[in-house]
Amino acid sequence: MKRRYPNTRARRLRVNTSIRDLVSESSLKSSDLIQPIFLMDGKNKKQKIKTMPDIERLSIDNAIKEIKKLRNFGIGAIALFPCIEKKLKSSNAAEAFNANGLVQRAIKEIKERVGDITIISDVALDPYTSHGQDGLLSKKGEILNDETIEVLSKQAISHAQAGADIVAPSDMMDGRIKKIRTELENNSFKNTIILSYAAKYSSNFYGPFRDAVGSQKNLGSSKKDTYQMDSRNTNEALKEVELDINEGADIVMVKPGLPYLDIVREIKNKFNIPIFIYQVSGEYSMIKAATKNGWLNEQEIVMEALACMKRSGANAIITYYAKNVLEWMR
Ligand code: PBG
Repeated sequence: MKRRYPNTRARRLRVNTSIRDLVSESSLKSSDLIQPIFLMDGKNKKQKIKTMPDIERLSIDNAIKEIKKLRNFGIGAIALFPCIEKKLKSSNAAEAFNANGLVQRAIKEIKERVGDITIISDVALDPYTSHGQDGLLSKKGEILNDETIEVLSKQAISHAQAGADIVAPSDMMDGRIKKIRTELENNSFKNTIILSYAAKYSSNFYGPFRDAVGSQKNLGSSKKDTYQMDSRNTNEALKEVELDINEGADIVMVKPGLPYLDIVREIKNKFNIPIFIYQVSGEYSMIKAATKNGWLNEQEIVMEALACMKRSGANAIITYYAKNVLEWMR
């Protein structure tokens, strides 16, 4: 019998689920997922977030209940973000390193009452400044780099003291990784991991998050373009990653996710360091809006987006969908 075209049938390896799974090149595990948690003061409080349907701000007691559930579902890590009361915000962001601040108390209580869960804490000043920027402002309105990293390192130490496993500077000031690493070492926090938001772009996809932590109104129409990166750039991301690795970062983050997967791949190809992706609030809310309208299938679209992130080279993903995905995986 004559062999007929095609000689190679790529479709053989797609013939059924079992075969497709056997030859799949990447996979998403429950332990790859990190759930962000928005915190608020008070007891037994929950607050809806207008721009992020199905996500709520939680008081510490409710957050602990939620985290216990997540733990039972098999999640390994959470990322904490505070929405503090307006009266605690100031131009010098002193509340950021208050040992009894909302985040510091939450870290302590979660460690005591949930135990076996990795806590990632956000190191940045935007929830604490009266102007909503991630750094301190000069009289002229410039973001002060060197003054800001002094405050950031105090904030990071206060998180480590409370029991944070991973501190995650998301501010994009220069030199903050070195400063934080030095202070951690000086204070004997030798095992505190630094997850650097190394390639953090100045993105419109953060809008709903700013609503969630209550910095949007304070920020007004101001931008973060003088410290977060320009969406048009790749080399700049590689430079930032290299700097942060040399300064002592253990893990680097790329943020946002889906529109920036080429950056993840470039970093993966050039550096030998774990990479996390943040599927940010705008990505979440876009999917939510479309699926609430019945225009897309929520589960299918979310699983696809996360699979693409793993394919691009990410080790783990921060996603507001973590809990749903864990439920879907069961
Ligand atoms: C701020 C911070 C931001 C996010 C995480 N940390 C917003 C910003 O830089 O304005 C965004 C996360 C999201 O959009 O889900 N330090």
